[in-house]
Amino acid sequence: MYVMFSLEEKQEVTGGSSGIGKSIAVECFKQGAFITLLARNESRLVEAKKEIEKYAVNDKQVVQCISVDVSKDCASVERVIKQAQDKLGPVDMLVNCAGTSVTGKFEELGISNFEELMSVNYLGSVYPARAVITTMKERRMGRIVFVSSQAGQVGLFGFTAYSATKFALRGLAEALQMEVKPYNVYITVAYPPDTDTPGFAEENKTKNAEVTELEKLLVFFF
Ligand SMILES: NC(=O)c1ccc[n+]([C@@H]2O[C@H](COP(=O)([O-])OP(=O)(O)OC[C@H]3O[C@@H](n4cnc5c(N)ncnc54)[C@H](OP(=O)(O)O)[C@@H]3O)[C@@H](O)[C@H]2O)c1
Repeated sequence: MYVMFSLEEKQEVTGGSSGIGKSIAVECFKQGAFITLLARNESRLVEAKKEIEKYAVNDKQVVQCISVDVSKDCASVERVIKQAQDKLGPVDMLVNCAGTSVTGKFEELGISNFEELMSVNYLGSVYPARAVITTMKERRMGRIVFVSSQAGQVGLFGFTAYSATKFALRGLAEALQMEVKPYNVYITVAYPPDTDTPGFAEENKTKNAEVTELEKLLVFFF
């Protein structure tokens, strides 16, 4: 994904300490953006901040880190995002990238897998979006990106728990776009394919032989 920035644009990336979110943050930082990274693990946040800072294009740029679980409690997510905005100014673009995956047959997955994935992948995008939307509408500018997946466009064997959460993001995004377009606020949905990240490596550990073989076949269809 390529994002064009005006200098000093303020960007928040959930899941910005790893994988796709960290790469988006790097690309935006290279364009002069100020970055806020949100994720849970503090040491990974600090490492990501150091890595991103190497790409500064001016000496005013800032990377700030916030340790928060975006899926647990809307009020806490709103509070930390307000603190971030108090420091750096209102968010111009929010990228909702925090997410996780687990594969397995529908009846063999735990109900807790369905609950966790819906919490992180869906509600973990709703809460940050709620935290920034009012200010974006007031300022009549802003963009919110929801990172779905190719598994959010087509349901795949072994992905019942994951696909549903990524389809949900599309429904949310389409409905929200209708509400906010009059305010010059725009919604983007990203549908990445398999991407070599720490998260993808974790997902691969949950794949049984059936899922792996079917994935190989599906490469010919997509
Ligand atoms: N990699 C792929 O092949 C692929 C393909 C399609 C879509 N995607 C989607 O792209 C997004 C990023 O995937 P990735 O592969 O880059 O994953 P990743 O390397 O595992 O990175 C996930 C990021 O999300 C954060 N995160 C996870 N749960 C969180 C929570 N509850 N609260 C706050 N932060 C949380 C992680 O940090 P902490 O663990 O420290 O919180 C980390 O920064 C996900 O939404 C994924 O579904 C990935």
